[in-house]
Amino acid sequence: MKRVAASRVYRLLYPAVPVVVAASFGGRVSAMPAVSVISLSDDPALVGISSSPSHATHETIVRAGSLSVSWLGREYTEIVEVLGSTSGAKIRDKLEAAGLHHSLKGPLKVPVIREASAYLECALAGVHRFGDHDLLVAEVKEARAIADFKDYWTFEAYHPILYSGMGRPPLAPADGSVRRP
Ligand SMILES: Cc1cc2nc3c(=O)[nH]c(=O)nc-3n(C[C@H](O)[C@H](O)[C@H](O)COP(=O)(O)O)c2cc1C
Repeated sequence: MKRVAASRVYRLLYPAVPVVVAASFGGRVSAMPAVSVISLSDDPALVGISSSPSHATHETIVRAGSLSVSWLGREYTEIVEVLGSTSGAKIRDKLEAAGLHHSLKGPLKVPVIREASAYLECALAGVHRFGDHDLLVAEVKEARAIADFKDYWTFEAYHPILYSGMGRPPLAPADGSVRRP
């Protein structure tokens, strides 16, 4: 087998379902897609996100001490790619700029995306450095999903993005149909 460069190892994990991680602080709304997401604990419900500290969203999450995690369906693939290829450092509201609608929800005042198929409202429970990324530990305070989720996704209404790399078309569903915005 051919050798895979260390900087490309993460791509062996593709395809992956990205989430959109968002936070609000001081009037700014930051957001970025993340594929490096893992369920860490059921009780309490903890989710881990591996984030480069260079991201504007990372800074907003740390300042706010809270974040939201949202799942968007395949029809939002292009918007997710825009969120993942632009810096929100100089943008007041990156979600709005990308064409998504949101409101600041719950006691944590995290941005909840109206177009999401599911979302979490989370408190930031820890930040741990591993190499050049931080593991953001998010404690889930509220979790909501559309009716498609019946303790498992049925995939009747929710069609996940299967991300396989920037600029690459999303993997086609098994029935061969293509859904676009
Ligand atoms: C589908 C997708 C998944 C991504 N996953 C991650 C990830 O897990 N961790 C990370 O640090 N960056 C990830 N990125 C990169 C950031 O989302 C990207 O650099 C983004 O522009 C950062 O925006 P910000 O600077 O406004 O926060 C991903 C990008 C894309 C397109």
